[in-house]
Amino acid sequence: MRLASVGALALAALTATSARRSSQKVQAINFKRASTGLQDVVTWDEYSLKINGERVFIFSGEVHPYRMPVQSLHLDIFQKIKSLGFNAVSFYVFWGLHEPKRGHLDFTGFRDLQPFFDAAREAGIYLIARPGPYINAETTGGGFPGWGTYDRDLWRTENATYYDAWQGYMAEVGAQIAKNEITKGGPVILVQSENEYTGFQSPYKEDRVYEQQLLDALHKAGITVPITTNDASPGGHYTSVDIWGYDSYPNGFDCSHPYTWGSNSVPESFWASHMRYSPNVPNSIYEFQGGAFDGWGGSGYDTCGILTGPEFERVFYKNNFAQSTATLNLYMIYGGTNWAGTAHPGVYTSYDYGSAIAEDRTLREKYYELKLQANFLKQSPAYLTTRPQNPNAILGAYTGNSALKTSFIFDVVGKKTGFFIVRQSDANSAAAQTYKLTVPTTVGNLTLPTLGGSLTLTGKDSKIHVVDYEAGGTSILYSTGEIATWATIDGRDVIVLYGNKGELHETAIKFTGTTPKVQTVSGSGQIKQGVVSQTNLALQYTTTGQTVVSVGAKTLLYIVDRANAYEFWSLSPPGQGALAAYNTKNPILVKGGYLIRSLSTSSGTLSLVGDLNSTASFEIIAPAADSKKVTFNGQSLSLKKTSYGTLLATKSAQLPSVSVPDLKSLTWKTSNSLPEVSSSYSDASWKTANKTSTYNPTKPRTPGGVVLYAGEYGYHTGNILWRAHFTASGGETAFSAHIQGGFAFGHSAWLGDAFIGSWEGDVTHESYNSTFNFPAALQKGKEYVITILQDHMGYEEDWIAASETFKGPRGILAYSFVGASTNVTTWKVTGNLGGEDYVDNSRGPLNEGGLYAERQGWHLPGFDDSKWKNGRPTDGISAPGVQFYRTAFDLNVPSGVDYPLALAVSNSTVNTHYRAQFYVNGWQFGKYVNSIGPQKSFPVPQGILNYQGKNTLAVSLWAQDKAGAKLNDLHLEVRAKIESSMAKVVNQQASSWTKRDGAY
Ligand code: GAL
Repeated sequence: MRLASVGALALAALTATSARRSSQKVQAINFKRASTGLQDVVTWDEYSLKINGERVFIFSGEVHPYRMPVQSLHLDIFQKIKSLGFNAVSFYVFWGLHEPKRGHLDFTGFRDLQPFFDAAREAGIYLIARPGPYINAETTGGGFPGWGTYDRDLWRTENATYYDAWQGYMAEVGAQIAKNEITKGGPVILVQSENEYTGFQSPYKEDRVYEQQLLDALHKAGITVPITTNDASPGGHYTSVDIWGYDSYPNGFDCSHPYTWGSNSVPESFWASHMRYSPNVPNSIYEFQGGAFDGWGGSGYDTCGILTGPEFERVFYKNNFAQSTATLNLYMIYGGTNWAGTAHPGVYTSYDYGSAIAEDRTLREKYYELKLQANFLKQSPAYLTTRPQNPNAILGAYTGNSALKTSFIFDVVGKKTGFFIVRQSDANSAAAQTYKLTVPTTVGNLTLPTLGGSLTLTGKDSKIHVVDYEAGGTSILYSTGEIATWATIDGRDVIVLYGNKGELHETAIKFTGTTPKVQTVSGSGQIKQGVVSQTNLALQYTTTGQTVVSVGAKTLLYIVDRANAYEFWSLSPPGQGALAAYNTKNPILVKGGYLIRSLSTSSGTLSLVGDLNSTASFEIIAPAADSKKVTFNGQSLSLKKTSYGTLLATKSAQLPSVSVPDLKSLTWKTSNSLPEVSSSYSDASWKTANKTSTYNPTKPRTPGGVVLYAGEYGYHTGNILWRAHFTASGGETAFSAHIQGGFAFGHSAWLGDAFIGSWEGDVTHESYNSTFNFPAALQKGKEYVITILQDHMGYEEDWIAASETFKGPRGILAYSFVGASTNVTTWKVTGNLGGEDYVDNSRGPLNEGGLYAERQGWHLPGFDDSKWKNGRPTDGISAPGVQFYRTAFDLNVPSGVDYPLALAVSNSTVNTHYRAQFYVNGWQFGKYVNSIGPQKSFPVPQGILNYQGKNTLAVSLWAQDKAGAKLNDLHLEVRAKIESSMAKVVNQQASSWTKRDGAY
């Protein structure tokens, strides 16, 4: 588009806006206040949600309780989210974990949801509960229980056996959520039904009966708060819920090209879709990209953190605000860990997700960028009643520069405040653009900056410029410098304005009477002044470092660059009553520190509670009467008063050194974990795999139609072992099998005790046809047994309803002998001991797989390995097989710090293939495939690791090549050192080893 016509466009937008404004003056706003009719605490209208009648922007982050089994750590994560200025967390419940055996529901131990609810309430976080029954979530089976894989009917439809299947779970989880609704003093404000009920396997369509069944079930369970759903993209599915919304992942999941964005990747049609499908509810995005998942062989989560880093947050989230989004949930804000068998085959052990809060609970830079946006919106009530003014005419609008797109949203209720969101037209452009912004204001159209010069937008950046914005008693006519936050303290409005380092900006403040005196009270930034339209004082400045300027007696401006803006925390002391922690009134500003979790005031003392990773220089902006004394984590700070009434203090971080054991120098004990291939081993206790019929849509291609799907025999996770007994005819030269385990799976086979080959796995095969050649001719009439060890990488998801993808078998799809048409007389199978009647209730159904060591419980603390020989995983074995290793060590990490630890391996350059699993105090917290990767550092949370006492570490090593294998390295890594005020971590209780009767 030529520049001239863009200019015309900009002007047209301006005229349209002014016209709309004047018509709004006469038109009464029609509030469509809506509620479920079952309660009146959470209501809504076309603009926003209201809690107890008050409008609230829901800024939420996704967290999954099951990806953090240490219950006492939920509070740490919630507090970190709360300190961003967020007010909510959305969470899935994973049905398969709670009902691993049909009809046997379990919400005990790490699966108990109550500690999660309680921690949210304690932190002042609202919850959006998403119990499924389907959740997707890169979770095995998309959250469906393993036993669903052998159910008759189509899942995610109204069909009868599926309907019967989810009844018990939904009734129970629904009741637990209902008990924790805000109406009963709990944190739950919204409940989602299903998940992305959007794609349907032809000829099936959106099943409205099923949709209604779920709504009925939730209501029957006692849910009274609004029910929501998340269309995968705004396509108008499942609009019968109370507050419909949608999801979006516009930067995709290719973390290996983290700096490349699609030129047109910024979504522009959300508003139109929202108006089309659900105009009477708040524009709600229930999942918006907060990071990206990474698959086996991927590029690692740090790259996902770049793909979705601060630049992404600025451009894409501000674009959501440009569409008056009133509920925004970022998926994920804290990803956690796919420990044990949690994952589907598309992801590995870490579910860090490149989120603002990393898997080890440390904060990425993107955390601080989010804080700027959240604190701005928290203090901008006018935003909540905005409507986009130029959704179809943003190109070149208000700037005349076609390289820029500017959206104008206007508070149509207050009829004053406007927000102009500027970004690059080509999202991928790295070129800086200069511009002037011509905007409507209460004193007429103005072209900014008014005092000369121009504004700049660098590549991959976006800004929110405001007009007629109220910050307490200060009326801001306009500000091109973005508002990080503001607070009225002792009658003075403290406003934090920011831009990138070195950028020119302008802010105009309304005055009455004489022009207020402008005084630079701190810092060296130059301020240019001018009067706009007689009653507004325009200040032009450059955002570099920090300059503090007083404007009259009632306004104090902090003019800062982004790095300084990152440092401001805006937190409110607790309010009154049951929801005290939710108070957002009367914020106090604190600059500095790695994290301020909370603050409170009492008898003249301001108590700050926070974390430090280095010496902090604080500036505290608090009411004088409440901050005569200031403490940080209980220690008095020595305070210096600034000339402008704020307080300065420094606090050094207490970061005691700790020594972590050198794992390689510990005594390790070792034992063979593949006795199954020895001639003396009996598989009599194994299940006989002799089914010849299955409901599974994948029909067996085996002789006689024998069903060799582990799930049909109750094995849904971890390693699976098969044994084929046959009598040789003498002609057999090889055995072929088509084995399926999901992406990156592997398998190995033995004839008797002779190794006959492996498939080492890769990222493109979810199944593989192997032909295992026999080492020598078989003897006619002799009985042989072939043992196959395979991975189960988790079940597929079931994203397309009625596709039954999650039923994709793990096992042997087809087999035959080469050289003879021999019959297998008996197939035997085992996975984890007990299958669906799994043994270790405390660590749940997915912690143990079918390795001999796991069936015996060797991974558990308390097992007596003293009779085993010595041997280290870093020495390994010189032949194919499975070897198990155990050691123990003490940790002595003092309290008052948060030193996240990880088990780390180094790149294995030797070309042998192996698979290792790491068990910490019995919990499986890592699965490493050396030839596929990419994960090399496996965070293990405190509470799984005992930080003050004994720990048991076990390693399984499955060597897939003739040469055997060893771990190149294994060490404990201290990932960060933080002085921390987090609540005491209680070790997650779990059982120790006891003799397993009947273990085989
Ligand atoms: C969404 C889905 C989530 C998760 C996400 C990608 O489509 O609702 O459960 O799978 O994609 O991480």
